[in-house]
Amino acid sequence: MTDRIVQKTAAVFDSVAEGYDSEALRMFSFAADRLVDLAEIGPHMRVLDVATGTGVVALAAAQRVPAGRVQAIDIAQKMLDRLWQKVEVHGIRNIDVYDMDAQKMDFRSDYFDRILCNFGLFFMPDMQTAVDQWARVLKPGGRVAFSTFAEPPFQPQTGLFVQRLQQAGVDPGNDQTGLDRLADPAVGKALLTAAGFGNIQTHEQTLRYHLKDEKEWADVIWFSGYRETVDRIPVDQRERLLGQHLWDVSQLVGSDGLLMEAAIRYFTADLPGGENT
Ligand SMILES: C[S@@+](CC[C@H](N)C(=O)[O-])C[C@H]1O[C@@H](n2cnc3c(N)ncnc32)[C@H](O)[C@@H]1O
Repeated sequence: MTDRIVQKTAAVFDSVAEGYDSEALRMFSFAADRLVDLAEIGPHMRVLDVATGTGVVALAAAQRVPAGRVQAIDIAQKMLDRLWQKVEVHGIRNIDVYDMDAQKMDFRSDYFDRILCNFGLFFMPDMQTAVDQWARVLKPGGRVAFSTFAEPPFQPQTGLFVQRLQQAGVDPGNDQTGLDRLADPAVGKALLTAAGFGNIQTHEQTLRYHLKDEKEWADVIWFSGYRETVDRIPVDQRERLLGQHLWDVSQLVGSDGLLMEAAIRYFTADLPGGENT
Protein backbone atom coordinates (compact mmCIF):
# COMPACT_ATOMS: atom_id res chain seq x y z
CA MET A 1 0.00 0.00 0.00
CA THR A 2 2.70 2.44 1.09
CA ASP A 3 4.85 1.58 -1.92
CA ARG A 4 1.88 2.00 -4.24
CA ILE A 5 1.20 5.49 -2.90
CA VAL A 6 4.88 6.42 -3.23
CA GLN A 7 4.93 5.17 -6.83
CA LYS A 8 1.82 7.16 -7.61
CA THR A 9 3.32 10.32 -6.08
CA ALA A 10 6.51 9.76 -8.07
CA ALA A 11 4.45 9.44 -11.26
CA VAL A 12 2.58 12.69 -10.49
CA PHE A 13 5.81 14.61 -9.95
CA ASP A 14 7.45 13.03 -12.98
CA SER A 15 4.58 14.38 -15.04
CA VAL A 16 4.83 17.92 -13.62
CA ALA A 17 8.63 18.20 -13.70
CA GLU A 18 8.79 20.07 -17.03
CA GLY A 19 6.79 23.00 -15.63
CA TYR A 20 7.51 22.84 -11.93
CA ASP A 21 10.02 25.70 -12.05
CA SER A 22 7.47 28.00 -13.68
CA GLU A 23 7.10 31.56 -12.36
CA ALA A 24 3.58 30.77 -11.21
CA LEU A 25 5.00 28.39 -8.60
CA ARG A 26 7.58 30.79 -7.19
CA MET A 27 6.14 30.28 -3.71
CA PHE A 28 8.38 27.22 -3.34
CA SER A 29 11.57 29.25 -3.75
CA PHE A 30 10.35 31.99 -1.39
CA ALA A 31 9.75 29.36 1.27
CA ALA A 32 13.04 27.60 0.51
CA ASP A 33 15.00 30.75 1.32
CA ARG A 34 13.30 31.08 4.69
CA LEU A 35 13.76 27.39 5.45
CA VAL A 36 17.48 27.57 4.73
CA ASP A 37 17.78 30.62 7.01
CA LEU A 38 15.97 28.87 9.84
CA ALA A 39 18.26 25.87 9.55
CA GLU A 40 21.31 28.04 10.46
CA ILE A 41 23.69 26.19 8.19
CA GLY A 42 27.42 26.49 8.80
CA PRO A 43 30.04 26.41 6.01
CA HIS A 44 31.39 22.93 6.79
CA MET A 45 28.10 21.18 7.27
CA ARG A 46 26.68 18.06 5.68
CA VAL A 47 23.13 18.86 4.63
CA LEU A 48 20.37 16.55 3.44
CA ASP A 49 17.52 17.97 1.35
CA VAL A 50 14.62 15.52 1.56
CA ALA A 51 12.04 15.58 -1.26
CA THR A 52 14.28 18.00 -3.12
CA GLY A 53 12.16 18.08 -6.29
CA THR A 54 13.98 20.29 -8.79
CA GLY A 55 16.36 21.33 -6.00
CA VAL A 56 15.26 24.76 -4.90
CA VAL A 57 16.39 24.09 -1.31
CA ALA A 58 19.46 22.04 -2.25
CA LEU A 59 20.75 24.84 -4.49
CA ALA A 60 20.20 27.49 -1.81
CA ALA A 61 21.83 25.30 0.84
CA ALA A 62 24.83 24.51 -1.39
CA GLN A 63 25.79 28.18 -1.38
CA ARG A 64 25.93 28.10 2.42
CA VAL A 65 28.33 25.13 2.58
CA PRO A 66 31.42 26.08 0.54
CA ALA A 67 33.39 23.54 2.57
CA GLY A 68 30.54 21.10 3.09
CA ARG A 69 28.17 19.05 0.97
CA VAL A 70 24.48 18.73 0.16
CA GLN A 71 22.82 15.40 -0.58
CA ALA A 72 19.47 15.75 -2.31
CA ILE A 73 16.91 12.95 -2.50
CA ASP A 74 13.57 12.48 -4.19
CA ILE A 75 11.48 9.68 -5.69
CA ALA A 76 10.60 11.45 -8.96
CA GLN A 77 13.44 10.88 -11.39
CA LYS A 78 12.32 13.62 -13.78
CA MET A 79 12.36 16.21 -10.98
CA LEU A 80 15.87 15.02 -10.09
CA ASP A 81 16.92 15.25 -13.75
CA ARG A 82 16.07 18.94 -13.70
CA LEU A 83 18.13 19.48 -10.56
CA TRP A 84 20.96 17.55 -12.13
CA GLN A 85 20.83 19.77 -15.24
CA LYS A 86 21.14 22.87 -13.04
CA VAL A 87 24.07 21.33 -11.15
CA GLU A 88 25.84 20.63 -14.45
CA VAL A 89 25.06 23.94 -16.14
CA HIS A 90 26.27 25.95 -13.15
CA GLY A 91 29.23 23.67 -12.42
CA ILE A 92 28.12 23.14 -8.83
CA ARG A 93 30.47 20.70 -7.14
CA ASN A 94 28.94 20.18 -3.72
CA ILE A 95 25.55 18.60 -4.45
CA ASP A 96 24.88 14.88 -4.85
CA VAL A 97 21.53 13.72 -6.18
CA TYR A 98 19.85 10.40 -5.32
CA ASP A 99 16.64 8.68 -6.26
CA MET A 100 15.59 7.60 -2.77
CA ASP A 101 12.39 7.23 -0.75
CA ALA A 102 12.63 9.37 2.40
CA GLN A 103 10.93 6.61 4.37
CA LYS A 104 13.71 4.15 3.55
CA MET A 105 16.95 6.08 3.47
CA ASP A 106 20.24 4.37 2.76
CA PHE A 107 22.44 6.93 4.51
CA ARG A 108 24.47 5.89 7.48
CA SER A 109 23.49 6.93 11.00
CA ASP A 110 24.84 10.10 12.70
CA TYR A 111 25.98 11.57 9.39
CA PHE A 112 24.21 14.87 8.65
CA ASP A 113 24.38 18.20 10.48
CA ARG A 114 21.16 19.52 8.94
CA ILE A 115 18.08 18.06 7.29
CA LEU A 116 15.71 20.21 5.27
CA CYS A 117 12.38 19.32 3.72
CA ASN A 118 10.31 21.91 1.87
CA PHE A 119 6.68 20.84 1.33
CA GLY A 120 7.55 17.17 1.16
CA LEU A 121 6.62 15.44 4.41
CA PHE A 122 2.83 15.48 3.93
CA PHE A 123 3.20 13.46 0.72
CA MET A 124 4.71 10.55 2.64
CA PRO A 125 2.23 7.88 3.68
CA ASP A 126 4.22 7.07 6.82
CA MET A 127 5.34 10.46 8.10
CA GLN A 128 6.53 9.06 11.43
CA THR A 129 8.91 6.62 9.74
CA ALA A 130 10.33 9.47 7.68
CA VAL A 131 10.89 11.67 10.76
CA ASP A 132 12.41 8.71 12.64
CA GLN A 133 14.81 8.31 9.70
CA TRP A 134 15.78 11.97 9.99
CA ALA A 135 16.63 11.39 13.66
CA ARG A 136 18.68 8.34 12.73
CA VAL A 137 20.85 9.98 10.06
CA LEU A 138 21.33 13.30 11.91
CA LYS A 139 24.30 13.73 14.22
CA PRO A 140 23.61 14.46 17.89
CA GLY A 141 22.84 18.17 18.12
CA GLY A 142 21.79 18.24 14.45
CA ARG A 143 18.81 20.27 13.30
CA VAL A 144 15.85 19.51 11.10
CA ALA A 145 13.83 22.23 9.39
CA PHE A 146 10.71 21.50 7.36
CA SER A 147 7.84 23.48 5.92
CA THR A 148 4.20 22.76 5.45
CA PHE A 149 0.92 24.54 4.76
CA ALA A 150 -0.77 25.93 7.85
CA GLU A 151 -4.08 26.05 5.95
CA PRO A 152 -5.20 24.78 2.56
CA PRO A 153 -3.26 27.20 0.30
CA PHE A 154 -4.29 29.58 -2.47
CA GLN A 155 -7.82 30.43 -1.45
CA PRO A 156 -10.34 31.00 -2.83
CA GLN A 157 -8.91 29.42 -6.00
CA THR A 158 -8.38 25.98 -4.44
CA GLY A 159 -11.85 26.00 -2.88
CA LEU A 160 -13.41 26.88 -6.23
CA PHE A 161 -11.56 24.00 -7.87
CA VAL A 162 -12.79 21.55 -5.23
CA GLN A 163 -16.34 22.90 -5.63
CA ARG A 164 -16.35 22.26 -9.38
CA LEU A 165 -15.00 18.74 -8.84
CA GLN A 166 -17.61 17.94 -6.22
CA GLN A 167 -20.40 19.29 -8.43
CA ALA A 168 -19.22 16.89 -11.13
CA GLY A 169 -19.08 13.97 -8.66
CA VAL A 170 -15.25 13.76 -8.67
CA ASP A 171 -13.65 12.98 -5.31
CA PRO A 172 -10.98 15.68 -4.84
CA GLY A 173 -9.53 14.36 -1.58
CA ASN A 174 -6.53 12.25 -0.83
CA ASP A 175 -6.32 11.54 2.89
CA GLN A 176 -2.99 9.79 2.68
CA THR A 177 -1.06 12.55 0.97
CA GLY A 178 -3.25 15.63 1.55
CA LEU A 179 -1.63 19.07 1.63
CA ASP A 180 -3.25 19.81 4.98
CA ARG A 181 -2.16 16.69 6.85
CA LEU A 182 0.22 18.82 8.90
CA ALA A 183 -2.04 21.88 9.20
CA ASP A 184 -2.53 21.21 12.92
CA PRO A 185 0.84 22.11 14.49
CA ALA A 186 0.28 19.44 17.17
CA VAL A 187 0.73 16.79 14.46
CA GLY A 188 4.21 17.99 13.46
CA LYS A 189 5.22 18.44 17.09
CA ALA A 190 4.07 14.91 17.96
CA LEU A 191 6.04 13.42 15.05
CA LEU A 192 9.20 15.26 16.10
CA THR A 193 8.79 14.44 19.80
CA ALA A 194 8.23 10.75 19.10
CA ALA A 195 11.43 10.68 17.02
CA GLY A 196 13.44 12.16 19.93
CA PHE A 197 13.75 15.79 18.81
CA GLY A 198 13.75 18.67 21.29
CA ASN A 199 13.73 22.47 21.08
CA ILE A 200 10.77 22.23 18.69
CA GLN A 201 9.80 25.62 17.30
CA THR A 202 7.26 26.77 14.76
CA HIS A 203 7.45 29.89 12.61
CA GLU A 204 4.47 31.22 10.69
CA GLN A 205 4.57 33.25 7.50
CA THR A 206 1.96 34.24 4.96
CA LEU A 207 3.42 34.39 1.45
CA ARG A 208 1.68 36.63 -1.07
CA TYR A 209 2.33 37.25 -4.72
CA HIS A 210 0.35 37.95 -7.85
CA LEU A 211 -0.15 35.90 -10.97
CA LYS A 212 -1.01 37.70 -14.20
CA ASP A 213 -4.27 35.91 -14.75
CA GLU A 214 -6.16 32.62 -14.65
CA LYS A 215 -3.88 31.15 -17.33
CA GLU A 216 -1.00 31.32 -14.88
CA TRP A 217 -3.24 29.69 -12.29
CA ALA A 218 -3.72 26.87 -14.81
CA ASP A 219 0.07 26.38 -14.61
CA VAL A 220 -0.21 26.02 -10.84
CA ILE A 221 -2.74 23.21 -11.00
CA TRP A 222 -1.07 21.55 -13.98
CA PHE A 223 2.54 21.65 -12.78
CA SER A 224 2.27 21.00 -9.04
CA GLY A 225 0.91 18.39 -6.64
CA TYR A 226 -2.59 19.56 -7.72
CA ARG A 227 -1.99 17.47 -10.83
CA GLU A 228 -2.94 14.43 -8.79
CA THR A 229 -6.39 15.99 -8.38
CA VAL A 230 -6.61 16.92 -12.07
CA ASP A 231 -5.81 13.31 -12.93
CA ARG A 232 -8.87 12.21 -10.96
CA ILE A 233 -11.19 13.91 -13.45
CA PRO A 234 -12.35 11.44 -16.08
CA VAL A 235 -10.58 12.32 -19.33
CA ASP A 236 -13.80 13.04 -21.22
CA GLN A 237 -14.82 15.65 -18.58
CA ARG A 238 -11.43 17.21 -18.00
CA GLU A 239 -11.40 19.97 -20.58
CA ARG A 240 -14.91 21.13 -19.77
CA LEU A 241 -14.40 21.06 -16.01
CA LEU A 242 -11.04 22.84 -16.13
CA GLY A 243 -12.55 25.41 -18.50
CA GLN A 244 -15.38 26.08 -16.04
CA HIS A 245 -12.93 26.35 -13.17
CA LEU A 246 -10.68 28.77 -15.04
CA TRP A 247 -13.71 30.90 -15.82
CA ASP A 248 -14.49 31.00 -12.06
CA VAL A 249 -10.92 32.08 -11.35
CA SER A 250 -10.95 34.70 -14.13
CA GLN A 251 -13.63 36.51 -12.07
CA LEU A 252 -11.04 37.03 -9.32
CA VAL A 253 -8.47 38.74 -11.53
CA GLY A 254 -8.17 42.41 -10.59
CA SER A 255 -6.00 45.29 -11.76
CA ASP A 256 -3.01 43.74 -9.90
CA GLY A 257 -3.70 40.30 -11.32
CA LEU A 258 -4.62 37.24 -9.28
CA LEU A 259 -3.61 37.20 -5.62
CA MET A 260 -1.86 34.04 -4.45
CA GLU A 261 -1.78 33.65 -0.70
CA ALA A 262 -0.41 30.76 1.33
CA ALA A 263 -0.03 30.46 5.09
CA ILE A 264 3.17 28.54 5.70
CA ARG A 265 4.41 26.92 8.88
CA TYR A 266 8.08 26.08 9.32
CA PHE A 267 9.20 23.66 12.00
CA THR A 268 12.69 23.53 13.42
CA ALA A 269 13.88 20.98 15.98
CA ASP A 270 17.20 19.77 17.32
CA LEU A 271 18.46 16.38 18.37
CA PRO A 272 19.86 16.39 21.88
CA GLY A 273 23.64 16.26 22.40
CA GLY A 274 26.54 17.45 20.22
CA GLU A 275 27.65 20.99 19.65
CA ASN A 276 25.13 21.98 16.98
CA THR A 277 27.52 24.38 15.21
C1 LIG B 1 5.81 19.96 -3.68
S1 LIG B 1 7.25 19.12 -4.16
C2 LIG B 1 8.50 20.01 -3.24
C3 LIG B 1 9.84 19.95 -3.91
C4 LIG B 1 10.90 20.87 -3.33
N1 LIG B 1 11.22 20.52 -1.97
C5 LIG B 1 10.47 22.32 -3.43
O1 LIG B 1 10.34 22.98 -2.39
O2 LIG B 1 10.26 22.81 -4.55
C6 LIG B 1 7.16 17.60 -3.28
C7 LIG B 1 8.28 16.63 -3.61
O3 LIG B 1 8.22 15.56 -2.66
C8 LIG B 1 8.68 14.39 -3.32
N2 LIG B 1 8.33 13.22 -2.53
C9 LIG B 1 7.09 12.80 -2.22
N3 LIG B 1 7.15 11.67 -1.49
C10 LIG B 1 8.46 11.39 -1.31
C11 LIG B 1 9.17 10.34 -0.64
N4 LIG B 1 8.52 9.34 -0.02
N5 LIG B 1 10.52 10.37 -0.63
C12 LIG B 1 11.19 11.36 -1.27
N6 LIG B 1 10.58 12.37 -1.95
C13 LIG B 1 9.22 12.38 -1.96
C14 LIG B 1 7.97 14.50 -4.66
O4 LIG B 1 8.51 13.64 -5.63
C15 LIG B 1 8.16 15.99 -4.97
O5 LIG B 1 9.33 16.22 -5.73
